[in-house]
Amino acid sequence: MENKKNSAGTIITVTLIFGLAYAVLRYHVLGPVPWKDFPFFILNKGISLGAFILLTFNFSFGPLNNLGVKFPQGWLQARKALGMTGFLLVLIHALMSFMLFKPTVYGKFFEENGTLTLLAGLSMLGGVLGFVVLWGYNLSFQTHLSEDKAFIQFITSRKFLLTAMLLVAAHLFFMGYKGWLNPSVWHGGLPPISLVAFICFVIGYIINLLGRE
Ligand code: HEM
Repeated sequence: MENKKNSAGTIITVTLIFGLAYAVLRYHVLGPVPWKDFPFFILNKGISLGAFILLTFNFSFGPLNNLGVKFPQGWLQARKALGMTGFLLVLIHALMSFMLFKPTVYGKFFEENGTLTLLAGLSMLGGVLGFVVLWGYNLSFQTHLSEDKAFIQFITSRKFLLTAMLLVAAHLFFMGYKGWLNPSVWHGGLPPISLVAFICFVIGYIINLLGRE
């Protein structure tokens, strides 16, 4: 009989709680951000971290399994739900970010004349391209496309996934690296969310380089 156990619900809940708890701890409890900013500004940070980790899980469980790490069946079966949920959370992150995107909220992304800095431009380019590539990846699971074998093979290939991950890594790197290099200003000594996500990216990228066939 087919094993129907699927751990997606538990993995998604735990990951989201971690993302939100980290954002609340770093910015409200140990940092200076007022609680009135929780429902949008801080929630957006927690959601983007949770989404990023879920997507890294989605890409990495299979390659890790190939490398000999034995996952419970329910974890492997959760991959599709993790990928779709991660993508939907990224969509929420993008919509929230569009609404917040002004110099008064993100001073470091803007020049004094109101245009984007070079680093912010590169970061947002990575984010938008990463988002569209993830969208394409999700579309590939639609049944009418899944009949086109060559297209699906390309879009689920190692090269395509590694490119998608690199685009999002560029989003994180250009937005954050200056702050990463200055631990003395980290709230409560906790690394910025962009750095936590970037570390997940590095681990996930290596796993995919080694274990994806
Ligand atoms: C249309 C596409 C996107 C836009 C406009 C966008 C916008 C932004 C903005 C404005 C920030 C700064 C947030 C802050 O510091 O409060 C940010 C951070 C972040 N984004 Fe995106 N993003 C996009 C796509 C993505 C994608 C595809 C991912 C991958 C899952 C992602 C993951 C993250 C993460 C993890 C952070 C770090 C949050 C932090 O350090 O505070 N973003 N994004």
